[in-house]
Amino acid sequence: MADRIEIFDTTLRDGEQSPGASMHAHEKIQMARQLERLGVDIIEAGFPIASEQEFEGVRKVAAAVSKPRVAALARATKNDIERAAKALESAQRPVLHTFIATSDIHLEHKLRMSRAQVLDAAGEAVRKAKSLIGRVEFSAEDATRSDLDFLVEVTKATIQAGADVINLPDTVGYTTPEEIYEMFRRAISESPGSENVVFSCHNHDDLGLAVANALAAIRAGARQIECCINGIGERAGNTSLEEVVMAIRTRHENYPYECGVITEEIVATSNLLCKLTGLTVAYNKPIVGRNAFAHEAGIHQHGMIANRKTYEIMTPESVGRSRSDLVLGKHSGRHGLSRRCEQLGYHLTESEVEHLYKQFIALADRKKEVFDDDLRVLIASHRDESFETYHLDTVRTSGGEPPMAVVRIKKGDELLVDAATGDGPVDAAYRAIEKIVGVEGKVQEFVIRAATPGKDALGEAHVTVQFNGHMCNGQGASTDIIEAAVQAYIDALNKFLAVRNSQ
Ligand code: KIV
Ligand code: ZN
Repeated sequence: MADRIEIFDTTLRDGEQSPGASMHAHEKIQMARQLERLGVDIIEAGFPIASEQEFEGVRKVAAAVSKPRVAALARATKNDIERAAKALESAQRPVLHTFIATSDIHLEHKLRMSRAQVLDAAGEAVRKAKSLIGRVEFSAEDATRSDLDFLVEVTKATIQAGADVINLPDTVGYTTPEEIYEMFRRAISESPGSENVVFSCHNHDDLGLAVANALAAIRAGARQIECCINGIGERAGNTSLEEVVMAIRTRHENYPYECGVITEEIVATSNLLCKLTGLTVAYNKPIVGRNAFAHEAGIHQHGMIANRKTYEIMTPESVGRSRSDLVLGKHSGRHGLSRRCEQLGYHLTESEVEHLYKQFIALADRKKEVFDDDLRVLIASHRDESFETYHLDTVRTSGGEPPMAVVRIKKGDELLVDAATGDGPVDAAYRAIEKIVGVEGKVQEFVIRAATPGKDALGEAHVTVQFNGHMCNGQGASTDIIEAAVQAYIDALNKFLAVRNSQ
């Protein structure tokens, strides 16, 4: 049986204390339940002494989950430790996590304590924590910049005091894989009783080395990785949970360890965190970024179609994504284009592909990405050049109670008019269009923004509308934002009609 690596998730503590990531207690509960589904071993829920809200957050998370252990952080002081123990009262498997810095720079400028005083305080804190809670983790803050001999002294003293877990953090993201390997090797081999404790790593990502350092630490004998979803955390963040877990899983021959994470829950967990905090991830972020499984270059798309393993080292399904997206853009080739058309249900002849490809490249030159509904329109317009398009003639609105709109649209030479009321002038105009055309649409997304600077700026409207199960995007631009919004709706409607007519 391979060694087991425990995943200690600190999204709700170290992650949450980073700018823009703060969560209310009810949001922490939602996140904690998802982390439980994800299968993490430990959830660090917060730092109870920090505030009343933080205390409540930890208390509620402790009561909300049953499978993972729940940890609370405390400095190496009596008050902090008692407060953290109180917050953990309802936890089924509590962990009290206490810490003190061990580097000379922290001792001199922050703690104003000598090494001997820190050594005493660390042992004392572990004994106090142990008297209140069965499982205690001790962290030597800034371990990677500490004198290694002194760090080993602290490790010995805290093991002797009863610590169950010894965490040696790279607090400022400064270390390298070679250095961290050596630090863990020495701390483990030189501390009597180390075989009875779990060694843990906690790496910040200031130099982009957090995941590599975590992998080096486990090669040296660490068996717990502290990490955050989407790699959030102080400054540049912490070890990203999804990256380190997928590295272990994908390169199992190099890292022959087991961990309990259900990787198919990764994307759902990442999305929930984005939704709760509003912190989005970069498109190119490994595992969870929008483009992480997307292949645009023609040669890559060709390879993927022949055999996915040409450019795919793990499947999108294994992290909970539905499929690998072939993003179509100006670098895509005929192969990728016809494959996507097949996926959309169109089986094109060679000459149709040739014709479509020219139109597609012209469009891709103007737009960065070509979406499925753009393709459908191109195919539809090629197969039936005469499909009818609605054009906006005028829209008049009144902001009375209820708001009302009169819309005139053209279909060829025919002028069609109707009026409707709605929740606002734009809604009223959309309802009037529905009455004219006889097709119902549900607006899923609606964005208005200024496309040009100045007082008479051109307003650009983008809508995504669902017609009969089809999602269609539409765009409009006008100095009148209501007109832009109506144009965008008609644009989406025309796309839907083109698709419907072509099937
Ligand atoms: O980065 C750090 O050193 C920490 C400790 C409190 C574990 O977050
Ligand atoms: Zn940290």
